[in-house]
Amino acid sequence: MPPSQPLRSPAPLIVFGAGGHGRVVAEAAMLTHRWDSIHASDRMPSAQSELLPGIRLLDADTAMALDPEIHIAIGDNQAREKEASAWGHERLVSVIHPVASVSQFSSIAAGCFVAASAVVGPMAVVGMGVIVNHGAVVDHDVEVGAFSHIAPNTSLGGYAKIGQRVLIGSGAVVLPYIVIGDDVTVGAGAVVNTHLLESGTYAGVPARKIL
Ligand SMILES: CC(C)(COP(=O)(O)OP(=O)(O)OC[C@H]1O[C@@H](n2cnc3c(N)ncnc32)[C@H](O)[C@@H]1OP(=O)(O)O)[C@@H](O)C(=O)NCCC(=O)NCCS
Repeated sequence: MPPSQPLRSPAPLIVFGAGGHGRVVAEAAMLTHRWDSIHASDRMPSAQSELLPGIRLLDADTAMALDPEIHIAIGDNQAREKEASAWGHERLVSVIHPVASVSQFSSIAAGCFVAASAVVGPMAVVGMGVIVNHGAVVDHDVEVGAFSHIAPNTSLGGYAKIGQRVLIGSGAVVLPYIVIGDDVTVGAGAVVNTHLLESGTYAGVPARKIL
């Protein structure tokens, strides 16, 4: 799919996930002006009636009855992957903040969120349901596997290859050409200068396995 989004969608958008990340996604979706109608939903009952001013919170059955496009706005990678399957991958849509910089020569799969001030470089390939959070840089030719989360202000150097359900913690730096396997967590502020192929938690400068 090309990173540019169609100007208008005929369907309403449901932002699924009524937490802080949901609020960030809902505001970005409003700013795209792609959807006439945006609502939020969650499996957890809430005392609130709105996620943000103008974004009503609906129960999941009411949301589904609208035959909507869905964005799963849950920060946790496993939970996001599970909800994406539950709602159906064919309904998933990406939300790209209007002040993100996404190369026309990159590829962004369905269900991704690219936040304000994030950069996705040319020939980068971003898999389904990935979060590229505020200010993160996914440089040229980087691959990011499905349902990973590239947290705020991280930097993925050119040709780095990131597996599925990986969390790259806030402010971490992954050097160019580094390969990170599935289900790896990289701690905030880490510098990754060797391949991390075994699942687990790595932190520090340089990053070492801690858990
Ligand atoms: C690395 C991380 C996943 C570990 O979390 P955890 O499993 O709860 O582990 P703990 O907090 O018990 O820490 C375990 C040890 O690692 C150390 N540690 C934790 N995070 C660290 C980090 N980012 N860098 C260096 N050391 C770290 C702790 O001080 C502790 O050391 P100790 O055993 O000597 O006391 C977590 O601290 C982290 O950095 N998460 C990233 C969060 C993030 O950026 N989210 C994005 C939000 S949008």
